[in-house]
Amino acid sequence: MCGIVGYVGNQGNCVRVLIDGLKRLEYRGYDSAGIAYFNDGKVNLVKESGKLENLSNVIDVEKKSNLGIGHTRWATHGKADKCNAHPHKIGKFTIVHNGIIENYNVLKNKLIEKGYNFSSETDTEVICALLDYLYKTDKDILKCIRKLNEILDGSYALGIMCDDNPDELYAVKKNSPLIIGINDGENYIASDVPAILDKTKKHIVLEDKDYAKITKDTVNVYHDGKEKRVDVKSFEFDASSIDKQGYDHFMLKEIHEQPDVFKKTTNPYLSEDLDGLIEKMPDFSKYSKIRIIACGSATHAGLIGKQMIERYANVETLVDTASEFRYNKQFLNDDELVIVVSQSGETADTLEALKIAKKNGNDTLGIINEKGSSIAREAKIVLYTEAGKEIAVATTKAYSAQVAMLSLIALNISYSKNLVNKKEIAEILKDAKSLPTHMEELLQNEEVYKEIANQIKEYNDVFFIGRSLDYALAMEGSLKLKEISYTHSEAYAAGELKHGTISLIEEGTPVVAIVTDDNVASKTISNIKEVKSRGANVIYITNRNDEEDQTFYDSKIMVPKVNDLFSPLLTVIPLQMIAYELAKLKGCNIDKPKNLAKSVTVE
Ligand code: AGP
Repeated sequence: MCGIVGYVGNQGNCVRVLIDGLKRLEYRGYDSAGIAYFNDGKVNLVKESGKLENLSNVIDVEKKSNLGIGHTRWATHGKADKCNAHPHKIGKFTIVHNGIIENYNVLKNKLIEKGYNFSSETDTEVICALLDYLYKTDKDILKCIRKLNEILDGSYALGIMCDDNPDELYAVKKNSPLIIGINDGENYIASDVPAILDKTKKHIVLEDKDYAKITKDTVNVYHDGKEKRVDVKSFEFDASSIDKQGYDHFMLKEIHEQPDVFKKTTNPYLSEDLDGLIEKMPDFSKYSKIRIIACGSATHAGLIGKQMIERYANVETLVDTASEFRYNKQFLNDDELVIVVSQSGETADTLEALKIAKKNGNDTLGIINEKGSSIAREAKIVLYTEAGKEIAVATTKAYSAQVAMLSLIALNISYSKNLVNKKEIAEILKDAKSLPTHMEELLQNEEVYKEIANQIKEYNDVFFIGRSLDYALAMEGSLKLKEISYTHSEAYAAGELKHGTISLIEEGTPVVAIVTDDNVASKTISNIKEVKSRGANVIYITNRNDEEDQTFYDSKIMVPKVNDLFSPLLTVIPLQMIAYELAKLKGCNIDKPKNLAKSVTVE
């Protein structure tokens, strides 16, 4: 997703701060970049398509400047080219923008009638012209910005410069995150923490329709024409979390962080007698139905949560993809708990689905990783996962933290309803304690994952099959493979293969077969034999060691046997590592896959 950084200070190093900040936002995914900065009272604007280095190559970072804005663009309106790159400048205003203006066409036509010309296809340029038009009738910039909030529909985080005020940076926020970094003698704006984390931890989180005037020494935040008192917060993590710390890729580092993340996410709740679980979570036992809504991997986590909540808590649980839920006919029961799952807490579809549930009067719970994010602020209740900052676009540790949190919720309800007995609790706690060690064991198997990646690298289609819990894991394994190795893949319910897809199985077709769910193991093994008999190269991932017949698979990856409440957290590691090793073999950009963004803040 697009990235914004802005600076106002007195060190004259604005250009370098902007470029360094944009470098730290590269992980969000983008296809062009640009900066604008004051130099000798004039706005200099430089932008290039493609990677940030294309921009750095044409900029003198030592150029003196005390105020500027920068942007990495993930194209929504208009091609990913230099003309559409930000910043955009019309008249006296230069702007960078994250988000989508839904009424930009109507506004653009009106501004054309007023004599404005546009060189790009972007909605952002329309904001420039609108602001310039408003300013022509009222030289009070803050009043003009307030009017913007009344006129614009959609989502926007804006960094704004005005030719007439070379010492003032302006910021506006609605439905797209924007923070103000606070320091001595300089201040910043950013769409995400990493852009300024090396400069300061002190920051202000803008709320929807807040706007701010920022100078090197002052920050004034306004809402609806009135100045508002704002809290200065401090980021809880440090610069090391945005450093690879010796790993080849952030994704590999984050896969290896999962044992720690599991401990950080679950330890506060798993006291010896589970009372911590009850005391530190709301009472979820009163809901007759639960609905989990999310996008992408978070949906796959939700599917595992469904299995856990239904098995352990005996509560019907539905799972919806947010982008579908938003436009489907709604059948939300009033006493249904709606759980939204999102690592970024900024995913547009998930945020809108949450708003629909709130409007319907449902209790809402957010399982979120990014503290203070839009979804975290919107949900009635929030349970934070403790995955830390996740830099790689393909989620791993945040996904597994979501799975862990959903398992804890299932256990919480089960315990509240006396559906789990002391013996089962003891086993669960024992497995929770040993889980990080088992995860470490699986992380040591790099050679096995490399070998499997070698086996499948020549194939254009890889199938992942499983049933129940294992089907949800198959979906996550398939998505990982697709998004970082650009290999087509499909996750299939093992029982569905013979209803069509098995026609695609040829000699050597790689099929990753997951069998860890005892409830359906024998059935899935029958399905595996069906694909094996048609020539598939079966990669068998299982926690079972009692099969007499060893002929239905070609490779086997053993996963330690633990309580099924936590088994997905083990099974997912080989899936993540196979995707990682294949992407590495294929020389893909593992941390920043093409066309993808870390947080999808647009529809
Ligand atoms: C995961 O590997 C993907 N990059 C993507 O599917 C992601 O899970 C999805 O966009 C949801 O993001 P969120 O958890 O921040 O809402």
